[in-house]
Parts: sequence; structure tokens; C-alpha cells
Amino acid sequence: MSIILGIESSCDETSASVCIDGKIVSNIIANQTIHELYGGVVPELASRVHQQNIVPAVHQAITAAKIHKKQIDAVAFTRGPGLLGSLLVGTCFSKAFALANNIPLIEVNHMQAHILAHFIDEPKPLFPFLCLTVSGGHTQIVLVKNYFDMEVVGETLDDAAGEAFDKTAKILGLPYPGGPLVDKNAKLGDPNKYKFTEPQIPELNFSFSGLKTAILYFVRDNVKLNPGFLHENMNDICASVQSRIVSILLNKLKKAAVQYEITDVAIAGGVSANSGLRDGLNAMATKEGWNVFIPKFEYCTDNAAMIAIAGYYKFLAKDFVGQEVAPLARMPF
Ligand code: KG4
Ligand code: ZN
Repeated sequence: MSIILGIESSCDETSASVCIDGKIVSNIIANQTIHELYGGVVPELASRVHQQNIVPAVHQAITAAKIHKKQIDAVAFTRGPGLLGSLLVGTCFSKAFALANNIPLIEVNHMQAHILAHFIDEPKPLFPFLCLTVSGGHTQIVLVKNYFDMEVVGETLDDAAGEAFDKTAKILGLPYPGGPLVDKNAKLGDPNKYKFTEPQIPELNFSFSGLKTAILYFVRDNVKLNPGFLHENMNDICASVQSRIVSILLNKLKKAAVQYEITDVAIAGGVSANSGLRDGLNAMATKEGWNVFIPKFEYCTDNAAMIAIAGYYKFLAKDFVGQEVAPLARMPF
């Protein structure tokens, strides 16, 4: 029997989770609302709030799992990538917890963990599969050969898909984080009303900065002609932008599937909560004959369950780190 405590603190969610024998039994997420006042995550504030939230989050995760802390066999934590001040809180907590309880420490790569969230519930994908990982900081197509043998075969050259959603929302005057609000408005709008061009980027890479600029000019020009333009057309604008972001993502995913001759395809990361992307992927899967894997909503955005499950597989492999480990803002696979 193995009990793993997972700790996530890479951005603005403080999260703790308990995994018993590969099953997630608790997943506590403390959101930080203070950043809404600033229109984006303020790193200094994020680390301070993590410091306040981490011990209560761990207590709640242990209580909800109906275990005693002395039963925990290992602590797994996000080492990177992420905001350094935020990562330091989770790393220091985990090192202290491991030391105090004399248990091993397991480092986890946040981007790998988003992908390994697919191993929390059935059906689990079979190796090798392709995963489109789309979050606030990353947009990657990953060839997943095994639990920790992953290759990034395509990525964004500038903004991440989540950033494209959030920056669009900001231009439209929606509060932060705007991605979910663009999604909500898009459900009521016409995706074919406005056409934004698809960038021609080589190979399996992406670019979203041109789209952001196009939206900025489009809004500026139309508001000049009609000051009520945004208010009157909000749902159609959101639907049209979302439809373009989704088509950019899915066209590259299709290209990757053909190139690598793979029909098992997954999505992961915060943007995989987007309903347009989920529907678009399902439609493409039917057309292309893919098996698709779409995470439950609670495992799309940042959470410690994905860290705990990654920790579980590392625990089985006895892949531990020492007390000298330090967090990494940038952390390749
Ligand atoms: O993975 P995540 O929680 O944090 C990072 O590691 O970045 O992803 C957060 C990103 C944000 O950009 C947020 O706006 C976006 O995911 N997001 C969405 C939706 N839910 C979250 N974007 C579009 N539609 C959604 N429903
Ligand atoms: Zn993330």
C-alpha cells in the first residue's frame, strides 16, 4: 500500500491531494481571487497567499482522505515550471514535511503532471499517445511514450493558447481570468460572424501573437465607428475568436497525428476546459477515427491530484530527490 501527498503551487492555485494506491481520495484547491483586482497574476501576491493557504489546504486534504499524516509514504511537489516565488512555497513546505516525517521527496514537472492527469480515472490512454497541452503559460503537442518519457514535438513560438484567451478577454473588457468568460459568451454567439486569419506557422508549432494584434485593431476600428459595438456583438466576437483559437490548435494536432501515425489523442491543461475545444476535438475524433481522452473539468486547471498521481508512478519507480532540491521557473521535460 502507498499513500502519496501531492502539493501544487506553481501559479495562483494552492492545492493538496492524497493518492492511495493510485486512487485520488482528496483534492483541495484554494483559489486566489486577489489577482482579479489587477487583471492578471501578481507573482509577489501569489507567493504570499500560497504561504497563508498551504498548511490549511494540506490539513483539509488529509482530513478529507480520512488518514493520519503519519501514514503518508512520500510527498510529491511541483518543482517547475512556474512562478519562482510560488514554487518556493510548495517546495519548502514539501521538504519540511518529508524531513519531519522521515519520508521520501518526489519532484514533479507541472507540464508532465497535466498529461498524467489522464491516469487518475478510467479510461486511461495507452502508450504511445499524443497530448495537446494548453494552459496559461504553455501550448505544446507532446508525444507521450511512457509515464516520464515524453517529447515535445510542437510548441508556441510566442503566446500560449490560454494567454490568447485571457488577452482577448482583456481587450473585450472582461475581467481576469477571461478564458472561461470568453467560453461562456461564445456559447451564445455565432462563430462564423467574424473571420480572423489562421497564421501559417511551420511544422507543428503555433503562434498566437498575430491573432491578439488582429483582435486589438478589429475592436479599435469598430468601436470608432460604433461605440456600442462591443456590447452589441460580445457573444459573436467571443464565438468567432474561440473558433479560430480552436481551429489553430486542432489543425496542428491533426497534422501531428498523421505525422506520427497515432490515433490515441488527449488534451490537457486549463484550456482543455474550453467547451469549443472539447466539442471540436470530439468532432475531429469521429471524422479521423481517433480515441480521444478529455480530462474531467476539475483535472484540467491546476490541481494537486495530477501531482499526486505523477508522484505515485515515481514512487513505484523509487525516483526520489534529496533535500538540496530547488524549484525551477523553467523546467524542461
Ligand atoms: O493549466 P492552468 O490552470 O494554469 C497554468 O498552468 O497556466 O491554465 C490556466 C489557463 C488560463 O489562461 C485560463 O484562462 C484558461 O486556462 N482557461 C480557459 C478555460 N478555463 C481555463 N480558457 C478557455 N476556456 C475555458 N473554459
Ligand atoms: Zn497548469
